[in-house]
Amino acid sequence: MISKSKSVKKAQSPQSPAGQPMSESWAKCYQNPSADLLAKAHEFARYLQAEREGGHDFFNREFLSPNRPRSVMRDRVTGQPRDVIMLGSNSYLGLTADPRVIEASVAAARKYGFGMGSVSLYAGTSDLHVELEHRLAKWYRCESAVIFPSGYAANVGTISALLRPGDVVVNDLFNHASINDGCRLSGARTYTYGHRNMRNLSRVLKTVTAEGASTLVITDGVFSMEGDVAPLDEIVPLVRQYGARLMLDDAHALGVIGPNGRGTAELCGVEGQVDITMGTLSKCLGGIGGCVAGCADLIDYLKFFGRSYFFSASVPAPIVAGALTVLDIIEQEPEHRESLWRCTRYMVESLKAMGYDITNTQSAIIPVVIGDENSLQAMLGELLEAGIFMNFVSFPAVPKTRCRLRMSMMAGHQQSDLDYVLETMRKLGKKYGVI
Ligand SMILES: Cc1ncc(COP(=O)(O)O)c(C=O)c1O
Repeated sequence: MISKSKSVKKAQSPQSPAGQPMSESWAKCYQNPSADLLAKAHEFARYLQAEREGGHDFFNREFLSPNRPRSVMRDRVTGQPRDVIMLGSNSYLGLTADPRVIEASVAAARKYGFGMGSVSLYAGTSDLHVELEHRLAKWYRCESAVIFPSGYAANVGTISALLRPGDVVVNDLFNHASINDGCRLSGARTYTYGHRNMRNLSRVLKTVTAEGASTLVITDGVFSMEGDVAPLDEIVPLVRQYGARLMLDDAHALGVIGPNGRGTAELCGVEGQVDITMGTLSKCLGGIGGCVAGCADLIDYLKFFGRSYFFSASVPAPIVAGALTVLDIIEQEPEHRESLWRCTRYMVESLKAMGYDITNTQSAIIPVVIGDENSLQAMLGELLEAGIFMNFVSFPAVPKTRCRLRMSMMAGHQQSDLDYVLETMRKLGKKYGVI
């Protein structure tokens, strides 16, 4: 399958002009024909209300504690705080609430204020920002790195700065939305290869590079809906063979994947061989902000041509200080990553033994395929009732018959909590005919 612009699968569902696929009910709201621009919002509000009344109340839940293995959320029925087992956070090592991280962040707030009040190019760069950029460059075995306001901004800004109409970008089918948005903004010709399909990537590269266009291959390191990992050891030589460049989105890998948590390139033995590595401070590092690492010339170029860097305020110093401390902890205390993997392995093996389809996950993201959306909603509602929080993934993010729970594991989950989750999953899996 070589498909230009959109994959065959994604093209089957209705799309927004930005190319985002939508479910039929969302598309119905979005396509509201009224001359009043807000009519679509009013129609969507009615749809959301009906969903909530049907007990499908899974989004924007209020948390009253940090994301940690046991978190506190507000019960929408009683209005009271309620303990939940957290299986829906990307703070994989649970360090967002580590006292040392909070202390560093508080100290930075005292010294620099709670925000920067400027874009990075003007008054928005502190010595802490410079230190973090150096740290991240070293982390990724690159010459230089730059911090963007978010991971989303890092992808959109980098891709749109590098690619022009006439250039070619080649994406894995399951790359993150921010990559697709960057590609659209750039105006480059976009091709999609089958997920992790190297024969397919090779065919696409052979075709597009024969035309002599500048070509960028982009892949997620860890795929956020599948939990699997890009075969970078195969992608790097292919990209070299065809004279293209490679960009890696390592958002879910930083701190988690690889023997020392340095990410997908470390895991695949290709550190220093990826042209452009994007990471985020918002997942394992527990803050907010994105980063891009590469050669010094690339990073200087991005500071002036990356519009989401140039025209958006910089990450607050307290977040930068927290991120630096998390990196210290990751480097000095491997036990957090070991605990994460212990919990993940236990969950993966137990769910598989029960008969659940958990795809081919290789990370701390465990997708649990339930089937149709109705069963998924019912099951998720019962899990929440039982005090277990996980995320909901349905069509069009995944095919209609493969709607799924998305568990994100954390370091420090108690064995008794994991066993309780598994027991609940066993009961519900049988009740809904999933296992
Ligand atoms: C693979 C991937 N890339 C980029 C992003 C965007 O990162 P951020 O949330 O830090 O903006 C995400 C966030 O969900 C992601 O999963």
